[in-house]
Amino acid sequence: MDTLLILGGTAWLGRELARQAVASGVDVTCLARGTSGPVADGAHLIPADRSEPSVYESVRGRDWDAVIDVSWQPDHVRSALDALAADAGHWTYVSSVSVYADTTTPGANEAAALVEPMTSGLATMDEYGEAKVGCEQLVTAAMGADRSLLARAGLIGGPGDPTDRFGYWVSRFASASSEAVLVPDAPDLSTQVVDVRDLAAFLLACAGERATGPVNVVGEAVPFSDVVDMSALTAGFTGRAVRAAPQWLEEHEVQPWAGPRSLPLWLPLPEYACVGSRSDARALALGLQRRSLEATLADVLADEVARGLGRARQAGLTRVEERTLLAQLR
Ligand SMILES: NC(=O)c1ccc[n+]([C@@H]2O[C@H](COP(=O)([O-])OP(=O)(O)OC[C@H]3O[C@@H](n4cnc5c(N)ncnc54)[C@H](OP(=O)(O)O)[C@@H]3O)[C@@H](O)[C@H]2O)c1
Repeated sequence: MDTLLILGGTAWLGRELARQAVASGVDVTCLARGTSGPVADGAHLIPADRSEPSVYESVRGRDWDAVIDVSWQPDHVRSALDALAADAGHWTYVSSVSVYADTTTPGANEAAALVEPMTSGLATMDEYGEAKVGCEQLVTAAMGADRSLLARAGLIGGPGDPTDRFGYWVSRFASASSEAVLVPDAPDLSTQVVDVRDLAAFLLACAGERATGPVNVVGEAVPFSDVVDMSALTAGFTGRAVRAAPQWLEEHEVQPWAGPRSLPLWLPLPEYACVGSRSDARALALGLQRRSLEATLADVLADEVARGLGRARQAGLTRVEERTLLAQLR
């Protein structure tokens, strides 16, 4: 692969894709507004808003060996394909495991049923899964199934995570000192976290090899309790982890998965039994290589310390919320 166009490239995964591609000698162009951040050193930014009709004129007519699109807006994906599909050798659409209709069947693979597609318009966060399915369909229709990869990413972790989810645990243990830390008692819950660097490397290798079709790009399935325990170990935590039953947490309005007042990565069972245990067989067959959870956690801890352990977070309990809950639990 000599030339790569990233539709995006100014945010977390897109910048990592550009960084790795530049490092391997690829000529990388990123098309984005530039409001999410800078592009990787050595990549070219074409500042452009994808809601503008003529936005792709400056990148049209060049023979892109590969295009990678991270958008979840059907109108943006459609107009990019209209302008660029004819000139692209291969198209990777960064999708999500949120495309699946069923969240309960452990081990489900890429053949599982999808939610209803949303193929036009601009989606809200509530329509994320539907929009991702719609974008997948647009990509396959325009590029053909033999020139496109639908990379259904699972939960992404690693340094620089803007969602603050995966880093909550190691950060919380690192800042707790000898204080107690509130932990969901979820021994049967499985979690899959793919390191952003491994995901990017996989996507670039797939683009280079022109891999096709849908593929779940997920981390190794490990017990959620192992993620918590390894986070405590990585952080050198010597205090007490206080376990609360899922029902108790729900009754006290602690949110699962992400966002404010949440215990990140925790999910109720059996409703979400599949979210942390989707089949990774196809990704492994295509060559996905994953670093260990310990290695990701060590780098995430360093990143959390650099960003500030006491900073306001997008996900998790505040210290005040946690202290109040711990007092109620006693
Ligand atoms: N985080 C997870 O755990 C997770 C899980 C599954 C799948 N995913 C998927 O993984 C991908 C993550 O990608 P990411 O971190 O690079 O990006 P992102 O956070 O989804 O950001 C979107 C990118 O698109 C650009 N963009 C947004 N609106 C635009 C507009 N109107 N015109 C031009 N550019 C626009 C943004 O740049 P500007 O703002 O600079 O324009 C940014 O580079 C996404 O596809 C996401 O859905 C994430």
